[in-house]
Amino acid sequence: MPYLPRSPRRSEPHSPRRYTAAEIRLAAEPPSRRRDRDLARVAEWLSADPAAPMRAVGWEPDPWQAAFLANGHPRRALLCCRRAGKSAASAARTLTHCLGGGDRLALVFSPTERQSREYCRYVRRYARALGHPVGIARQNLNEVEWANGSRLLSLPDNHEGVVGFTPTRIVIDEASRVSDVLYLSLRPMLATGGEIELLSTPFGKRGFFFEIFNTPARLAAFGCRHRVTWRDVRRITPEFIAEERLELGERWFRQEWETSFEDAVDAVFAADAVRRAACDDPETAPLFGTRA
Ligand SMILES: Nc1ncnc2c1ncn2[C@@H]1O[C@H](COP(=O)(O)OP(=O)(O)OP(=O)(O)O)[C@@H](O)[C@H]1O
Ligand SMILES: [Mg+2]
Repeated sequence: MPYLPRSPRRSEPHSPRRYTAAEIRLAAEPPSRRRDRDLARVAEWLSADPAAPMRAVGWEPDPWQAAFLANGHPRRALLCCRRAGKSAASAARTLTHCLGGGDRLALVFSPTERQSREYCRYVRRYARALGHPVGIARQNLNEVEWANGSRLLSLPDNHEGVVGFTPTRIVIDEASRVSDVLYLSLRPMLATGGEIELLSTPFGKRGFFFEIFNTPARLAAFGCRHRVTWRDVRRITPEFIAEERLELGERWFRQEWETSFEDAVDAVFAADAVRRAACDDPETAPLFGTRA
């Protein structure tokens, strides 16, 4: 039987719904403008509450995480103990970065592809927990693309694959274990804007991450910088730390939990002794000839 609209009963008063002027304006708006307005609202919301992704999964940010997320400086360095929540905090910023504007590109590097994927998982988990305020257009294990045109690419430590991208945000997770040549290849990408974020636990007195933290002028360029030991992390108990101290030995313990740059455990000479032995003064002759 064909559908026929129900004819109003005689007793029902005819009362058409009255729309407000604002509702009429809204309905007449082209869909593209409506979408832009919705995206702007999402961006505004996330910039007002940069920890929202973490809260959405039930993680109240530690004070240092809250300070780190509230700081918008484009040069960012995070020296943290293990399990501090550095990847989790950084991934929250990566999501707000990508949802905060259209056509942004966040490149995230880790020593290995597997670690990069773990980072990507944090971002996807946050997006899901927030109820996908911007829809995902395409995704796989290493990549997410949103409906606003922004993208996240997670990549391993391989400088050959980085030329040609125009990132608006670069993250190097576990930076102390990533090659210098990758860092040197990425830096020029900042010439036309964009931000860089380095996060790591120390790993010996070597590499660009160590050099940055060991050179006050270089460190000063990082307007957002934090040093986070186990004492700053509510989830790590003194009992666990006492156990770690026994198991790891002093040097390794200081590296993992006190954010101390230590000589490699198997090094014969301390790095400082090697540095002091080097001499730039041409007047100073070596004690022994170096030629046969
Ligand atoms: N604010 C928080 N509240 C509750 N749990 C948190 C919070 N931040 C991080 N975590 C928990 O700590 C775990 C470790 O976090 P994350 O992976 O970010 O640490 P990490 O510093 O990157 O560790 P790693 O040294 O292993 O790389 C997370 O999986 C999460 O369970
Ligand atoms: Mg991590």
